[in-house]
Amino acid sequence: MSTNDVILEVKDLRTYFFNRRGVTKAVDGVSFTLRQGETLGIVGESGCGKTMTALSLLGLIPKPAARIVSGEIILDGEDLVQKSSQEMRAIRGRKISMILQDPQTSLNPVFSIGNQVVEALGVSIKESRRNMFNRAVEALRSVRVAAPESRMHDYPHQMSGGMKQRVIGAIAMASSPKVIIADEPTTALDVTIQLQYLKLLKDIQAETGLAIIFITHDFGIVARMCDRVAVMYAGRIVESADVRTLFNSPTHPYTQALIASVPQMDRTDRLFSIDGQPPALWDLPEGCHFADRCAHARPRCHRDYPDVLQAGEEHSVACWMLHESWSQMEQEVST
Ligand SMILES: Nc1ncnc2c1ncn2[C@@H]1O[C@H](COP(=O)(O)OP(=O)(O)OP(=O)(O)O)[C@@H](O)[C@H]1O
Ligand code: SF4
Ligand SMILES: [Mg+2]
Repeated sequence: MSTNDVILEVKDLRTYFFNRRGVTKAVDGVSFTLRQGETLGIVGESGCGKTMTALSLLGLIPKPAARIVSGEIILDGEDLVQKSSQEMRAIRGRKISMILQDPQTSLNPVFSIGNQVVEALGVSIKESRRNMFNRAVEALRSVRVAAPESRMHDYPHQMSGGMKQRVIGAIAMASSPKVIIADEPTTALDVTIQLQYLKLLKDIQAETGLAIIFITHDFGIVARMCDRVAVMYAGRIVESADVRTLFNSPTHPYTQALIASVPQMDRTDRLFSIDGQPPALWDLPEGCHFADRCAHARPRCHRDYPDVLQAGEEHSVACWMLHESWSQMEQEVST
């Protein structure tokens, strides 16, 4: 795929919270690209900044406590960081959309399904009520809701978890966005429904060229769904690679620990468990943020944060070990 297919480019994004504790660096220099039709997984332990990265892309960070302090979010040629709240309202749904973390609470219990899908369509398009109804029916049909006309009048409590998840998908995709962010989209569903839903998203992607960002704790989902993966730790991406490379040759000690903490790749719904805790994001250490938990840490790791190095095509890693193995190789070549 050529660089022309790039639909989203995030450059050195920093989103900080400012409160009594001081400055919490929730997202601290995140960069990645996303191509049309591609699925990028973002993984990492709880609190590492995955959701805040997503909310930054959508212009939905909790203001005024949080602020994007620097960086660019180039979506379809436009920098979203420069957009006003009003401009972002028009961009959300139409160009970039999100499927929320908790499917059970994402639908409003007091409005019918039809009402909620129509509203999602209505934000960006002005047309007759009849047309809106038909378009909403089509949106439900596109996520394989059976007999969508009759389901339009149902309320969320009348639907199963899997069906509600589809409706949420229909709402997110109502205005044919180019990028969709799914933040733990399947945790409240049982495994069979989960797999059906993931397959549905992949089918829609194949039909439309939609680009997807999957935020998850689940390497089973990553293996099934994603083309590339970015591993986040304490507000930064520490390694990113295509899925095969990441699973076959994880290079950053944190990625290695994450993968080692999942005994069976084909099992879903497993959380990471690595000894020790990530550092507090309002009191980050000087050097590599993983140093206190890393078996390979050397004195330099506690002093300086490692620059990102290319370990291969589209494989980047921020770890001093890689720097050392490269300079060792250079020495061997020159002697
Ligand atoms: N409302 C808030 N006020 C202050 N700090 C916050 C707030 N929300 C999030 N944070 C900070 O941002 C960090 C990143 O949070 P985020 O929700 O992005 O984590 P996450 O990676 O999505 O975690 P999880 O896997 O549990 O969903 C948190 O560790 C926390 O320090
Ligand atoms: S930079 Fe050092 S502490 Fe950080 S992951 Fe690499 S070896 Fe471990
Ligand atoms: Mg989250």
